[in-house]
Amino acid sequence: MEGIKFNKIGVSFKGSGSYVPDQILTNQKISQKVDTSDEWIKTRTGISERRISGLGCNVTDMGYEAALNAIAMANWDIKTVDLIILATSTPHDLFGSAPSIQHKLGAYNAVAFDLTAACSGFLFALITASQFLKGGSFKRAVVIGADQLSSFVDWNDRRSCILFGDGAGAIAIEATNEFDNVIGFEMKTDGERGSFLNLPFKNDKDSIIDNIDFLRGGFSPIQMNGQEVYKFAVKEVPIILKKLFKTTNYSSERVDWLVLHQANQRILDSVGDKLKIPREKILSNLEKYGNTSAATIPLMIDEAIRNNKIKQHDIIATSGFGAGLSWGAALIKWG
Ligand code: UT7
Repeated sequence: MEGIKFNKIGVSFKGSGSYVPDQILTNQKISQKVDTSDEWIKTRTGISERRISGLGCNVTDMGYEAALNAIAMANWDIKTVDLIILATSTPHDLFGSAPSIQHKLGAYNAVAFDLTAACSGFLFALITASQFLKGGSFKRAVVIGADQLSSFVDWNDRRSCILFGDGAGAIAIEATNEFDNVIGFEMKTDGERGSFLNLPFKNDKDSIIDNIDFLRGGFSPIQMNGQEVYKFAVKEVPIILKKLFKTTNYSSERVDWLVLHQANQRILDSVGDKLKIPREKILSNLEKYGNTSAATIPLMIDEAIRNNKIKQHDIIATSGFGAGLSWGAALIKWG
C-alpha cells in the first residue's frame, strides 16, 4: 500500500461467487454418530444437511474457487485486483491463507491478508475492504468468507455438531466516484460474553529444558453455550439493524432482502418478526448448508444472485453475529 492513489468516494458491488465441498452429511447420518434425530434438528434449527470438506479440500481451496467465480462475474482481469481479504477462523496456515489464494489466482498485483472475527468475519472484512476503497488506497477488492469448522467440531457433542458445515463465498467490489452502495454499517464486540462460544487454545504445557516451559500449539474443539448465543442473537441483531436504519434514514419497509448470518432458522424468523420484515424477504439456505461461519453471508448472496432473486439495485440489509462475541450490520445496494 502506497497511500492515496485514487480519488474515489464509494463502493460498487460487481460480482459474487461461492463454493461448497461435495460430501453431504445429512441429519440422518449424524444420528448414526450422536443421539439425535432428523426431526429434532429440523425443528430446532431448520438444517437438513451440511457439507464437509474432506482430504484435499481446505479453506484455501474453497476460498480460491469462490473468489474465482466472483472475479468471473465481475469480468475483471485478474491482474487488476488490488486487495484480497479472507475472513476465516480456520485458516489452512495460522500465518495466513489469503496469500496462498492470491498465488493460486495469479493476482500478483494484490495484497492479501486474513481477518478473524468468526461468524461476523465476512461482514467485518467487507467493511474493512470498503474503507480501503473509499479512502482511495485500492480500486478493486475481493472479500472472501471461508470456513472449515468440521475440523474443529466435537463430533460427539450433539448440542453443537448438528449446526456446522464447511463452505466459502466471495464478493468483488470496486471503488467508484459516482455513488456509494455501502449505504451504512455498524460493528460491535463484547469480549465479556466471549466464553459463550470458543475454539480455544489447548494450553498443553511442555518443557524446552528444565524450568523453561512452553505451551504446545493446538486447539480444543468448539465449545458453545447454545442457549446464551441464541439469546444474544435474537436480542442484539434487531437492535443493531434498527440503529443502522436510523442512522441511514432507511426503514425496514425499504429493504428488499434481509441476509442474516445463517445460524438457526428460528433466529432468522425472530429477527425478521422484530423488524417487521416479511418471511419472503428473509433469505435462507440453512437447510442445505447449516452454519458455515464466515461463509454464510456471501454464500447466501451468491445463491440469490444466481437464482435471480437479488437483482441490480436491490437493497440488502445484512447482519453477521457470533463468537467474540461480535456482531455487525450493513445496508448495501447491489450493483
Ligand atoms: O454462529 C453462531 C453459532 N451458534 C449458534 O447460532 C447457536 C444458537 N443456539 C441454537 O441454535 C440453539 O440453542 C441450539 C440449536 C444449539 C439448541 O436448541 P435449544 O432449543 O436451545 O435446545 P436446548 O439446548 O435448550 O436443549 C433442549 C433439549 C435438551 O434436553 P433436556 O435437557 O430438555 O432433556 C438437550 O439435551 O434438547 C436436547 N438436545 C438435543 N436432543 C436431540 C440438545 N441437542 C440435541 C440434539 N438432538 N442434537
